[in-house]
Amino acid sequence: MPASYRDSVYRLYLEFLETAENKRRWSIFNDIPWDKLDVSKTTATTAQCVETFCAEEMYVPDYSSNGLALTRSMFGMAWFQTCWAFEESRHGLVFREYLTRSGLRSEAEFAALEANTLARVWSLPFKSARQMACYGALQEGATYMAYKAQKEKARCAGDSVLEAIFHYVGRDEAAHGGFYRAVIELELARDRAGTISDLAYVLSNFKMPGDGLIPNYQERLRTSGAGISARVFLEHVVLPTLKTVGTSREELKLALKKLSAPIVVDSASQAEASS
Ligand SMILES: [Fe+2]
Ligand SMILES: [Fe+2]
Repeated sequence: MPASYRDSVYRLYLEFLETAENKRRWSIFNDIPWDKLDVSKTTATTAQCVETFCAEEMYVPDYSSNGLALTRSMFGMAWFQTCWAFEESRHGLVFREYLTRSGLRSEAEFAALEANTLARVWSLPFKSARQMACYGALQEGATYMAYKAQKEKARCAGDSVLEAIFHYVGRDEAAHGGFYRAVIELELARDRAGTISDLAYVLSNFKMPGDGLIPNYQERLRTSGAGISARVFLEHVVLPTLKTVGTSREELKLALKKLSAPIVVDSASQAEASS
């Protein structure tokens, strides 16, 4: 008997957790070479760049409460959400520690950042768990690419602390993206047309979580070099995601056309409705 969707998601989460526990866990206290912290290795834009990432990671309370409300009726998805929230919480924390331990931001400056950031509330950009899985796959992929670029920048600048931070945090984001892609595959198997339609809709309305929340978000990304280009997003996030889950741009374009097409009501059903 084929496994139910519920069972499959549970198995997926168990695999995710096993890999996380056995191969991916890292310690803020023991795995980051804090003793090598050297502010002379930072570039002019480092502080603003890390601060922007930190602010975006700081919405964990909103991400997790909204995500849990959406997934609470399904064990595998809800438990993934709690594990995900724990991992994400460490990202904001390690960026915060970098900014304050290095002296790039004082405790008072960080307190102001925290107050400003959390004065706004993130809300779900899409309504259903399936749409949010599509969003998760794209968002985690984009975040992974952004952190990968920063890891390389830190390596070139000889900033081994920041290089280690982006290595561990980026590896988490890659794993999150993998989980969401696997969920999309399960969704495709049970409702291909609906899932393709959701993926097309999410992609055409995609923006990063901090966009519209963090003041001057796009400007910050540009001036600090924290963002990724549209080309990188397409070539390294969108196209590989479509390939992994087994669809194409063409299939998505068709679905998008259907979504924007006016709803056709034939004359027979119109007559029935008005009778
Ligand atoms: Fe993160
Ligand atoms: Fe993530």
